[in-house]
Amino acid sequence: MKKILVIGAAGQIGSELVPFLRNIYGAQYVVATDLHDNVMPELKETGPFEVLDAMDGKAMYDLVKKYNIDTIFNLVAVLSAKGEANPQLSWKINMDCVFNALEISRQTRGAVFTPSSIGAFGPTTPPDHTPQDTVMRPTTIYGISKVAAELLGDYYYLKYGVDARGLRYPGIISNVTLPGGGTTDYAVEIYYEAIKNKNFMCNLSPGTYLDMMYMPDALNAAVQLMEADPGTLIHRNCFNVTAMSFDPEMIATAIRKHIPEFRIDYDVDPIKQAIANSWPNSMDDSAARKEWFWRAKYDLQTMTADMIEKLTVKLQK
Ligand code: SER
Repeated sequence: MKKILVIGAAGQIGSELVPFLRNIYGAQYVVATDLHDNVMPELKETGPFEVLDAMDGKAMYDLVKKYNIDTIFNLVAVLSAKGEANPQLSWKINMDCVFNALEISRQTRGAVFTPSSIGAFGPTTPPDHTPQDTVMRPTTIYGISKVAAELLGDYYYLKYGVDARGLRYPGIISNVTLPGGGTTDYAVEIYYEAIKNKNFMCNLSPGTYLDMMYMPDALNAAVQLMEADPGTLIHRNCFNVTAMSFDPEMIATAIRKHIPEFRIDYDVDPIKQAIANSWPNSMDDSAARKEWFWRAKYDLQTMTADMIEKLTVKLQK
């Protein structure tokens, strides 16, 4: 990776991945793009920024040529719960962007990173220690588009030699940019509410176990995978990766170690609950561990301590 294009740079992952990549590869070699110009100032001030509708393949191709890009990080996605409100548009956005990134990289002999998700699994997938290779019959449009993107990535690799790679991310917890419209969003919102109001109304029920990961691990995983020796990669699109699995009661207990009066109540959202019930409780990420030495650094306790410290400062401003 020498010259990188990030599409969807202003989202939850992109807003932290861009500075992370700029630190490693040099600011001028990481081009951030998003649909609009009104993004966090850091994206524009610390390196190149371009407005790009990633559904426009010609515009993306022109930028790849302009900056001599060799790697595209495709972070555009309509998440699971939001996707159910407009499945047709979600499919189009999720698929057009991955198709454009792969098709351009076929022409330029580049590499592509596209995140997949726990959402690529469905109700007939084994829910505990979900294997790397298993049943994938998701029931959300988000999940269906993620499985299709995984297959397309492998197809472009096998047929054209495009260096496509990806991760099945769990819910990602972070303190810079909020996620939008995901089923796992509660695990981010709970920290904001704990600090602001000392209580949280949770839209998933107690006992809903889902895989999660703290943003620093998610960023490391993306770069580590893209830097991995291609000869060692058997799975490519995509690897299960996880750091922890918890339910709302467990995260509330972890928060109470720092904010003893914190209270969690429940007002279950049936759409999000049904989605969460169809996803794994915990994934087996041993293929990632074996093929490119993946290890998460943060667990629920260390993540909670860091989230509360960082958000307390942020919310005081
Ligand atoms: N965080 C995503 C969602 O909840 C899962 O990949 O939709």
